[in-house]
Formats: sequence, C-alpha cells, structure tokens
Amino acid sequence: MKSSKSHPLKGTANIPGDKSISHRALMFGGLAVGRAEITGLLEGEDVLNTAAAMRAMGAEINRLGDGHWECHGVGLGGLKEPETALEMGNSGTSTRLLIGLVAGHAITATFTGDASLSKRPMGRVIKPLEMMGATFKARDGGKLPLTVTGPKDVLNIEYRLPVASAQVKSAVMLAGLNARGRTTVIEDKPTRDYTENMLRHFGIDVAVEDLNDGAQAIHVKGHTDLIAPKEKIIVPADPSSAAFPVVAAVINEGSEIILPGIGMNPRRTGLYETLTDMGADIRFENKRIEAGEPIADLHVKGTGALKGIDVPESRVPSMIDEFPVLAVAAACANGTTRMTGLAELRVKESDRLLMTAKGLEACGVKLEMGEDSLTIHGNSKPPQGGAKIETALDHRIAMSFLVLGTATEEPISIDDATPIQTSFPDFVQLMNDLGAQIS
Ligand code: S3P
Repeated sequence: MKSSKSHPLKGTANIPGDKSISHRALMFGGLAVGRAEITGLLEGEDVLNTAAAMRAMGAEINRLGDGHWECHGVGLGGLKEPETALEMGNSGTSTRLLIGLVAGHAITATFTGDASLSKRPMGRVIKPLEMMGATFKARDGGKLPLTVTGPKDVLNIEYRLPVASAQVKSAVMLAGLNARGRTTVIEDKPTRDYTENMLRHFGIDVAVEDLNDGAQAIHVKGHTDLIAPKEKIIVPADPSSAAFPVVAAVINEGSEIILPGIGMNPRRTGLYETLTDMGADIRFENKRIEAGEPIADLHVKGTGALKGIDVPESRVPSMIDEFPVLAVAAACANGTTRMTGLAELRVKESDRLLMTAKGLEACGVKLEMGEDSLTIHGNSKPPQGGAKIETALDHRIAMSFLVLGTATEEPISIDDATPIQTSFPDFVQLMNDLGAQIS
C-alpha cells in the first residue's frame, strides 16, 4: 500500500469504537448474569477474536447490527472448558485478559497467536496468576502457545505491578473475581482504568486507595456475580485510532477536520497534550460524559507550525500506543523532540521503537535511538519520504507511515497493510474521504 502527498485534509470522520473498552464489554458481558447490550463496538479482528473465545467458553454473543451486539453471559465461575485452542491472532489484550479470566476458573485452555503475538512476553501475567494458584505450560521465556489451568480455589493476592501495564492489572483483577476476599493490585503509574470502571458498572465492588508513596491500590472483591447493566454499554470512539487522522491533519497545512465523540479518559490523552504542547491547533469541543466516560469532538487545524519538545516521562502510560505517530509529527516539527521511558515499546505488536526509528531513518529523518528512548531532529518540514517500510505485523507502524506519506515529497509505501484490520478496518477509506491519497 502506498501513501502519496495529500490535499489538505477536510471534513468530518467517524472513528471506530475503542478497542480496550470493546474487549472488556464482550468479556464482562459474556461472564455476567443477564443480557448486556453494546453499541459502538469495534469490529476489528482483535475484538472479534475476543468474541470467538468467549463463545468457545459458553457465552452467547450475537451481532445485532453495525457495532450493535448483545451478550448473554455464563455467570461468574460458569466458563466452560473450550474444546479447541483459543486463537488470539495479533491481540495481546485478548490474550492477557482472557488468561486472567481462565485462571479464575477450574478449566484448562490453550492460547495460540500469530507470529507477532507468539513473540510477546506472557511471563508478566503468568507470575501473579501462579501466585493465585493457576498452573501454566508455556514455550520457553513464557511465550505462546500457552496452556493455563485454573485452580479449584483461587487465592487472593496483593500484587505490585513491576511494569506499568493495564493488561497485567486487568488479568489479576479478573482472576480475583473468583477469589475469596479481596484481590489487590498496586500500580506506581496510573494506566488505563477501563477494567475498574466497567466492573463497577457490572455491580462489582472495586475500590481505589491512594497510598502514601504516590502509588494506587486497586481492590476488587471476589465471589460476587457480575450483573449485566440495564443501560446500553456505549463504546466511545478510540483516541488511539483518532490519533492517525489527527496527526495527518496537524502535519498538512491548511487541513481542518472534525472527529466527533472521541474518548477523553485522562489516562489515554497523553498524545493530545503533547501535540498541544508542540503548538498544534486541537480543540476539544462539546465535552460531555457518555456512559460514564468523558468524550469530546476533536476540531483539528493544520497550521504548519509544530515545535519539538521534551515529552514528560510521566505521560508515557497515557500515550503508550501513540509513540510511532507522535514520532511522525516530531519528524515534521521545528527542532528536537525527546522521548524517554519507552522500554515497553520494545514488546508491543513489534519492537515499535526499532521499527519507528528504522522507518523514519529510511524516510530521511535524523534521529537517535537508545535502549528506551528516541530523539528526533525535526527539520521544520516533512522529510523526503520515498521509502518502503517494514511493518512487522504491527497495525500502528503501518498506519503511522501511511500518515507520514500524506505529507512527504515522495510517496511512502508499506510492505503489509493487513494488520490494520486488527484495530481500524476502515482506515484507508476514512483517510481518503478526508483527502489522503492512499492506494
Ligand atoms: C491495553 C493496554 C496497553 C496497550 C494496549 C491495550 C488494554 O498494553 O498498549 O494496546 O486494553 O489494557 P499494556 O498493558 O501492555 O501496556
């Protein structure tokens, strides 16, 4: 797929549903008592893999229309043992959260995935879940394929996260739903809190305690059934997907786009704060709360004036998926952008730090990559482009470089566009409707 210099982007575009919330809606709906109705669900491959896995474990999940789904859950403790391996494709969130769910049931399940997912570390969930009584058989280094068996009696634990990860936090909390007493996860840096928020919505007692050292303890009370909420679960548009057209508009002077109803959970908005610090013209209009989540309509103008900044390290968890596309913006800015604390980028769908740096260098960008840092020297204008980018089964690398290609002198091509299906199936159509030239 090739992205060539675009016209200024213009128009209004509807961004698909939030991936993190979509996974949780299907999992919790599939576990609850009663009927949960969901609108705005993301119908990307990752989320469809979650739906298939929950069905394989006994939940009834039906698609009623575009993004409109219903779940009739099995009740807490009611997941049945799947007859075949659960194929997770590219999806780390499906895998880690479902491993947590299975670890809370006295059943055995095997998880498999694609070449990208099979390289990703699962030791981070294996360790706490073993403490809770689950047993594992995994490939060397804690990799997929992996088989987990949950214990008869799940032990409640207190666990301090060694890495800032909402997936690990969620896996422990989900296993803890079936533990006697209270399971506690302590996080030093706040990560996305959708599991906490949505479990409460399903009637679970989740308490958050501020600790003296600045960390937070999240307590979840086990042995309580999840009850499907009476109101629909409305999934907001995904701020991580919106990031791609937003950066495309920001780096193409004269652009003006509106993206309605974007999720503005403060633990997800780091990119927007950073772009604003860099001088981008992004307005958050019509701010409102929908189904418990803050949302806003984004109004973005491309002014051609971006400046390099030092990105505060404390902001990393709130923009963990946005560094490739931020790096694209930084490559078009005036001056140097420094990003630090990026170790987790090495274990995403690809080694994102490396793939971002390699791709940008091939497009003519001056940069330095460290073990967990990236420094980009912007040239006040988009780089030359003209490269073919290796995407390494990483949807966000694919989309980031197609975004850069909208602004470079020479077109940018990517070797494989199929990973985009995991999170943003209509990406190319949506971008081209705004004025991009992606073919
Ligand atoms: C996610 C958490 C993050 C993020 C991923 C989705 C989630 O992963 O990168 O895209 O839905 O909980 P980590 O928990 O590994 O940081």
